[in-house]
Amino acid sequence: MPAHLDPADPGFARDPYPYYARLREQGPAARVALANGSHAWLVTGYEQARAVLSDARFSNVPPRGAGRPKPDSPAERARGCLARHMLNTDAPDHVRLRRLTTAAFTPRRVDALRPRIERLTDGLVAELSGRLARERTADLVDAFAFPLPVLVIGEVLGVPEADRADLREWTYRVGSPADALERGAVDEAWSSLHAYFTALIGHKRRSPGDDLFSTLVHDAAEGGLDDGELLAMAFLLLFAGYETTMNLLASASLQLLTHPRELAAARRGGPERWAAVVEETLRHGSPLEGTTWRRTTERVDLGGGAVIPAEASVLVVLAAANRDPAHFPDPDAFRPDRHLAATGRAAPHLAFGHGPHFCLGSRLARLEAAIALPRLFEALPDLTLAADPLELPYRPGLLVRGPRRLPVR
Ligand code: HEM
Repeated sequence: MPAHLDPADPGFARDPYPYYARLREQGPAARVALANGSHAWLVTGYEQARAVLSDARFSNVPPRGAGRPKPDSPAERARGCLARHMLNTDAPDHVRLRRLTTAAFTPRRVDALRPRIERLTDGLVAELSGRLARERTADLVDAFAFPLPVLVIGEVLGVPEADRADLREWTYRVGSPADALERGAVDEAWSSLHAYFTALIGHKRRSPGDDLFSTLVHDAAEGGLDDGELLAMAFLLLFAGYETTMNLLASASLQLLTHPRELAAARRGGPERWAAVVEETLRHGSPLEGTTWRRTTERVDLGGGAVIPAEASVLVVLAAANRDPAHFPDPDAFRPDRHLAATGRAAPHLAFGHGPHFCLGSRLARLEAAIALPRLFEALPDLTLAADPLELPYRPGLLVRGPRRLPVR
């Protein structure tokens, strides 16, 4: 085992699974030294991951003064707004925020987005096909997996069509490493998003639309959400919704392009088979590599020799739990058929988390993937990967997981 874990190491980012497997052999949770000098407990066992995510002794509230102090600026204030969101809360605050949000994300409202998602998908596929005809190659992340979820969140938030290009550009910028763009561009994008969402909330208060966000703005139950909470919610929906779904679409496309028999089976098998591809990508690719950080409020004995002291930082590594061989035989193999009813169905994966913070957008994410993947591969049946899959760069860090680029021709 390396003396410390460096999440920025490109080799680890591309394939962290051997490391997690070795860690799991030491026990279902292990204390690890991180490259930044801090320590954390990484939970890699499936049962223990579920136990931690449903145990109130693991708090989601970040400790006061968490992270390095940064000079005050409009961008820092925007980032500060995001920090007020529901993933950073425990009961009873979390119960109130969650109840109000669940009321807006009903299955009926989410399913009603289907025709709009179909239209957005077809538009992007047409653009991609035009680019391939002109330039012979394109990046599937840049041209498809990134813009689709951002445009869908635009629908959820009720962002007018005319503003969608701005939303896409600002989101692209705030998600980019600071050194990848011109100086100040990332901060400027944070400030623009902050100003835009503030104005959007004012607009939705005056004239609500038929979008999910308008429901949140206008739900007066339990006093409703205040403007600060709405702002945090807009940021949370954008970030929880786009980067994860982008990784799901990118990882699924990569698996299908490198497993032609699975692609052929999905084409033949119809919706049930496509749904199995989506579930297997969620398990095998874990678009959210780890959950958000938890902190123990007291000493917790997780069993299997894992005793976590009070006030410890804990990360549930979903990518590791989803490949626990005790629950998923041959865990490193991409095998959609393990999710088919005919083969007895695998244990439920943990890609959307578990317990009180279970993903609120799981239905929307599944709907998007179930629409986007068949449409992409039907419209472009000869799509092939234009890079060595073992050389693709991956997103660094322990939070999100997926290829940064996916060159296709
Ligand atoms: C493939 C796509 C997605 C994956 C893998 C995913 C995964 C997750 C996970 C693991 C959590 C729990 C994190 C934790 O316990 O620390 C979570 C929470 C959440 N997700 Fe998702 N998510 C996805 C898409 C979406 C979408 C599309 C939306 C909304 C538009 C969304 C909104 C949320 C929200 C609001 C929470 C916080 C729930 C709470 O704190 O109670 N997610 N997601």
